[in-house]
Amino acid sequence: MRPELFEGLRGTLLDAGVGTGRNFSFYPDASKVTGIDLSPAMLARARRRKENLGTVVDLREMNVMEMDFSDDSFDGIISTFLFCVLEAEHQQPALEELRRVCRPGGTIRILEYALSENPVRRFTMKLWAPWVRFAYGAEFDRHTEQYLNAAGLDLVEKRFLYKDIIKLLTVRPAADRDVG
Ligand SMILES: C[S@@+](CC[C@H](N)C(=O)[O-])C[C@H]1O[C@@H](n2cnc3c(N)ncnc32)[C@H](O)[C@@H]1O
Repeated sequence: MRPELFEGLRGTLLDAGVGTGRNFSFYPDASKVTGIDLSPAMLARARRRKENLGTVVDLREMNVMEMDFSDDSFDGIISTFLFCVLEAEHQQPALEELRRVCRPGGTIRILEYALSENPVRRFTMKLWAPWVRFAYGAEFDRHTEQYLNAAGLDLVEKRFLYKDIIKLLTVRPAADRDVG
């Protein structure tokens, strides 16, 4: 699934909530990637993976809701399984920050879980949900799409990459974001 995240992305890229660096192998050659994460422990593991794989990436400790980058810093942004760990009240501020640091016309790709509509899969996911919440602070459906408009982002595409459980959102800064 992860290679699809990077289709058409090049230039300055941000991996928001980089974790242990599970996207490293898929970074496009023609890119300059920065990875941020709130957790020093996750970043330490990412640094080890960076060394092992020889990945060229600038890793920084930073909160996605309060990033040190100037406006319009990145041509593209990816975030994988970050929004499932962000509380409901943090969804919009995080999306607003992604919009702020993405250049106009840039692309933001968000890979996330969704709660399946299939009764058997939905039942199984609901059984797992308390464990996932306890172990990772994650939820299977944070309804991230519902905050896009308020955050000044347009949904370009939503498609499922694995059954109806893992979805890829492609979004862009809304065209009128600079007006006024
Ligand atoms: C489920 S992990 C996903 C990691 C990685 N993107 C992946 O696909 O494997 C979520 C990551 O988001 C980070 N995170 C949580 N809240 C954050 C925040 N406010 N700012 C930046 N990173 C955050 C966590 O520390 C964790 O590394």
